[in-house]
Amino acid sequence: MLRSTIALSVLIVLNSAFDLNHIEPHIDILLKPLKTSDERIRQHGYPAESHFVETTDGYILNLFRIPYSPRLGNQHDRRPVVFIQHGLFSCSDGFLLNGPENAIAYNFADAGFDVWLGNARGNIYSRNHSTLSPVSPKFWKFSWHEIGTIDMPESIDYVLEQTGESALHYVGHSQGGTVYFVMLSSRPEYNVKIKTGHGLAPAVFMGNVTDSIVSALAPYVGSPGMGTNLLSDQPFVPYNPHVQRLLDTACGGEPAYPKYCKTLFLMWAGDEQSNLNATLLPQLAETHPAGISTNQGIHYIQLKVSNKFRQYDFGSKKNKKEYKQEEPPEYPLEKITANTFLYYGLNDGSANSKDMKRLPGYLPNLRLFYEVPNPTWGHLDFIFAKQVKEEINKPVIQYCKDYEDQY
Ligand SMILES: *[C@@H]1O[C@H](CO)[C@@H](O)[C@H](O)[C@H]1NC(C)=O
Ligand SMILES: *[C@@H]1O[C@H](CO)[C@@H](O)[C@H](O)[C@H]1NC(C)=O
Ligand SMILES: *[C@@H]1O[C@H](CO)[C@@H](O)[C@H](O)[C@H]1NC(C)=O
Repeated sequence: MLRSTIALSVLIVLNSAFDLNHIEPHIDILLKPLKTSDERIRQHGYPAESHFVETTDGYILNLFRIPYSPRLGNQHDRRPVVFIQHGLFSCSDGFLLNGPENAIAYNFADAGFDVWLGNARGNIYSRNHSTLSPVSPKFWKFSWHEIGTIDMPESIDYVLEQTGESALHYVGHSQGGTVYFVMLSSRPEYNVKIKTGHGLAPAVFMGNVTDSIVSALAPYVGSPGMGTNLLSDQPFVPYNPHVQRLLDTACGGEPAYPKYCKTLFLMWAGDEQSNLNATLLPQLAETHPAGISTNQGIHYIQLKVSNKFRQYDFGSKKNKKEYKQEEPPEYPLEKITANTFLYYGLNDGSANSKDMKRLPGYLPNLRLFYEVPNPTWGHLDFIFAKQVKEEINKPVIQYCKDYEDQY
């Protein structure tokens, strides 16, 4: 969702200019979801659990679980584990909104899996810390590097411990794919804990992102400098209940949704909505954006400018301190030895097909490199398209089942 990152960065610039954040910072940042993922799951008659994982650096992450399927009644059978990780601006709700027939979380449960949904630090579910308050800038000093090197491995360890399994299947959309690459290249000992890993439009190389706003903002935040100093370490358009409720009422149940619902959605999704399940719009508005740190957006824009997949650029002075070199180190993708499956679309402005095509050359154990044949397939279609069950969910689940049958 890079396009949206950028649209929202513009808002942040405006925010800073007018000092709007100043008015009531606490209200937005300390919000609770209107309806939690476990409530959503139970409403559909599935069992749900809520778990908390405290990371070694103090962030308290909220994971959700669909332990088994009531349709199968398989609570006493052995169930392989799948861990599903959301994209930028999203949260665990994203994998539930299509409902029990079409959302990947339920589809996995109905295929006999024990389903776990992650939530990255800073989103609406994981905005808590053992010592830092989310109203403090220190809380927001992280990018997706920390999500990949800390949140993911520690969530996975927790899930493996809870389930008594030694490895699991991983599915990540967009940033959920980015952090898969970060985790397995930076902490290669996690490769053995992944049975199969599925990147749905993972954002890795970004050089070919052709967005006019990216280009417009790149000079300001694409490399370290005043723009970055001004914008780093803050919550990035936090979830706002007033806006959410308004949208919920205004967009709800409308067959041809009002123009501004569309506009709001476009802010997050770009213009790629040809395949989108429009019935979802009110729920999307209710649950997104779920919150990120500005550094996550800045880090992506840095990738666009450098055309490299590498760590956060703090500027040469601080880089020397952090990395012992002036340029940020590149992630060593060749260390990713887990069975990896990649899926990409031709109308995706964020995980652009040209950039995707650079990946196979780096990955020693790529099992699938799948281009969705529908030429209009966009970034959010991997989660919210009308055809998502047939086009994405079914094959992903089948590859996981094939692995289970084989081993
Ligand atoms: C944050 O986590 C602490 C420690 O687990 C807990 O006591 C507290 O209730 C949590 N706060 C919120 C707002 O969830
Ligand atoms: C765009 O994609 C091509 C082909 O994969 C690649 O060679 C190039 O480095 C990418 N980035 C830019 C900025 O062109
Ligand atoms: C579209 O979204 C609605 C509302 O969540 C859901 O009930 C329906 O199953 C979805 N349809 C498809 C084809 O995904």
